[in-house]
Amino acid sequence: ALPSPPGPLDNPRAKLVTDPANPWIAPGENDIRGPCPGINTLANHGFLPRNGIASPSQIVTAVQEIFNMANDLAVFLTYGVHLVDGNLLTDLVSIGGKTPATGPDPPSPAIVGGFNTHAVFEGDVSTTRGDAFFGDNHSFNETLFDELTAFSDKFGGGAYNLTVAAEIRFQRIQDSIATNPNFSFISPRYFTAYAESIFPLTFFVDGRETDSLTLNMTVARGFFQDGRLPDDFFRSNISWTLNDIGGGIGEIFAKHPIQPGGNNGTVNSYTVDPNSANLNEFCQLYTDFVNITIRGLYPNATGPLLEALNQNLDFFFSALSESNQGCTQVPAFV
Ligand code: HEM
Ligand code: MG
Repeated sequence: ALPSPPGPLDNPRAKLVTDPANPWIAPGENDIRGPCPGINTLANHGFLPRNGIASPSQIVTAVQEIFNMANDLAVFLTYGVHLVDGNLLTDLVSIGGKTPATGPDPPSPAIVGGFNTHAVFEGDVSTTRGDAFFGDNHSFNETLFDELTAFSDKFGGGAYNLTVAAEIRFQRIQDSIATNPNFSFISPRYFTAYAESIFPLTFFVDGRETDSLTLNMTVARGFFQDGRLPDDFFRSNISWTLNDIGGGIGEIFAKHPIQPGGNNGTVNSYTVDPNSANLNEFCQLYTDFVNITIRGLYPNATGPLLEALNQNLDFFFSALSESNQGCTQVPAFV
């Protein structure tokens, strides 16, 4: 049986998390990095394996310890991504591109492509990464960071805050409507795009000033571009839960409400998709992800693969029980 997800921190408060045993070291030629600045940072400091191949348990432990992500959010994200991007038999996932280092692949249509895999979890309108349509959905993009900086100057007095988050989120959507004929903005990406706009405020802000919800742009560049913790970094003084992030999502959505949808193969053709979960349908995010996305990758798993799949699905759902979302678990795959 696979190891159960790690539990919550004993003392989930701010504390110094940088230390001499975990220096920032640029990734080597064979080290994999990807679209998540938080996870890249953990690998660059050796809080995750520096080669960029990790188990879900290692990821949960590291995001809790170094960033004070709450257990429900850490388990939900980690197992959600692992189920679509990871190798369920070896219990390993690449934090970037596809690699044989995660072990022998299960039969297609399973992908096991790592975090970079487009449209199962990774998606369009990232803040500092381009849309897959333009060729690179995972590398830091200076043009996008410059746009973020301009918005921080215009709306945040030179720093990233909730107002900037709402404005740049909306701008990135407008950019993709106007330039990406394949732009897709449906669940789960619809949820994660908003959530990831909050993450720099909850996780990149030093824990001695958690309440400010304001991020200095030099620190922002360190995380987004270099995957680097500032010297003497204190983790957040709050353990941020699924519900906390949901609250932040509601705030930035309210400033520029957009329904889930996408372009239809031509630019400027944004059409609402009534089948996608919207932000107040969190349980549908979960059920569609299991019944459509995950089932689509594993339509007829058997034996040990089926067993591993169902264990990971249980771990994934346990996050929703923990946060009292009131969702009903999708029955085990047979
Ligand atoms: C984006 C995975 C935790 C910060 C992403 C993406 C993935 C991912 C696959 C790409 C989505 C996209 O933009 O298209 C994960 C997993 C986590 C995790 C599995 C495990 C809990 C964290 C943490 C932080 C973080 C702890 C902050 C310290 C971000 C940010 C983005 C992002 C800011 C958006 C980047 C951008 O739009 O330029 N994450 N992440 N993540 N993640 Fe994570
Ligand atoms: Mg993306």
